Amino acid sequence: MIDLSTKYMGFDLKNPIVPSSSPLMQDIDKVRRMEDDGAAAVVMDSLFEEQIKFEEAELYYFLEHGTESFAESLTYFPSGDDFYSGPELYLERIQKLKEAVSIPVIASMNGTDAEEWIKYAKLIEEAGADAIELNVYFLETGFNIAPGEVEKRYIEILKAVKSGVKIPVAVKLSPYFSAMASTAKELSDAGANALVLFNRFYQPDIDLANLEVVPNLVLSNSDEMCLPLRWIAIIYGNIKSSIAITSGVHTHEDIVKAIMAGADAVQMTSVLLQEGIDKIKSFLEELVRWMEEHEYESVDIMKGSLSQKACPDPAAFERANYMKTLRSYK
Ligand SMILES: Cc1cc2nc3c(=O)[nH]c(=O)nc-3n(C[C@H](O)[C@H](O)[C@H](O)COP(=O)(O)O)c2cc1C
Repeated sequence: MIDLSTKYMGFDLKNPIVPSSSPLMQDIDKVRRMEDDGAAAVVMDSLFEEQIKFEEAELYYFLEHGTESFAESLTYFPSGDDFYSGPELYLERIQKLKEAVSIPVIASMNGTDAEEWIKYAKLIEEAGADAIELNVYFLETGFNIAPGEVEKRYIEILKAVKSGVKIPVAVKLSPYFSAMASTAKELSDAGANALVLFNRFYQPDIDLANLEVVPNLVLSNSDEMCLPLRWIAIIYGNIKSSIAITSGVHTHEDIVKAIMAGADAVQMTSVLLQEGIDKIKSFLEELVRWMEEHEYESVDIMKGSLSQKACPDPAAFERANYMKTLRSYK
């Protein structure tokens, strides 16, 4: 009997599969199906700082200017009822999800302002979420911001949220740090119960027909997994936090690779959007089959077996790999 269980941010998960934050989580029936198909936990779509600020702005505009000038300010926000219904609806959805499923429900907060998050983290905890994932989707464009300031902001947000809640807190990280390993360690030392590698930044494109800058949401492919894979392999065994992979998991082999690099949990969204929620079931069957064929009894035995510490060629994760890769081109 293959043992797929894994420990992730203090939870004993029955397997490593955790559907990541996405609009799929807005539909309770879909989340129920994820649980039925074998998902071990789920991460909700994010509550955005802008949603909270929107609510505050709405009140301010109504009080100060009346409804007309408020309509003008709406252009900065995305369209859709869900966005405007804001934090209250999000808290309600946590309660409903908790009633609907018995796997851990990890709420997600997306923003950059520590102050805002303390209050909402508490409300999220009170609403019954089992944990919080902080998505610090933060792109520093200031020309006078010193290196190190961005890292400081991550730590501040984490500490602020940790000080306000008892439930575990994960940080979903960007890949754009100049010293990833030490940033991961700092976040771990500051109390992050898990690090989620990596936040996938959507890069805007230029629409030449309309001469506009336009958003560009392209789903991932398996190639994108190599970036988090490398960093997970490097930080595995060097930090206290659990580790989850996100970005580019599309096959059961990807799941095996992520675990071998050192991931405790394997998050996925694009593949579920493209191929449907049922994919979770086939992933689990294929994972078990792969482990049987390759004589791995448990996820625990497989975990970190190709991390940098365990790997026969540790330099493969570093600069040496770059030279070798370039020379391998035929
Ligand atoms: C349509 C869509 C909506 C998403 N919404 C969120 C979100 O609200 N919060 C968040 O942290 N990540 C969000 N993500 C990112 C995913 O959780 C995931 O990290 C990313 O898609 C990379 O994983 P994948 O390659 O498995 O898709 C979203 C992704 C997609 C495609």
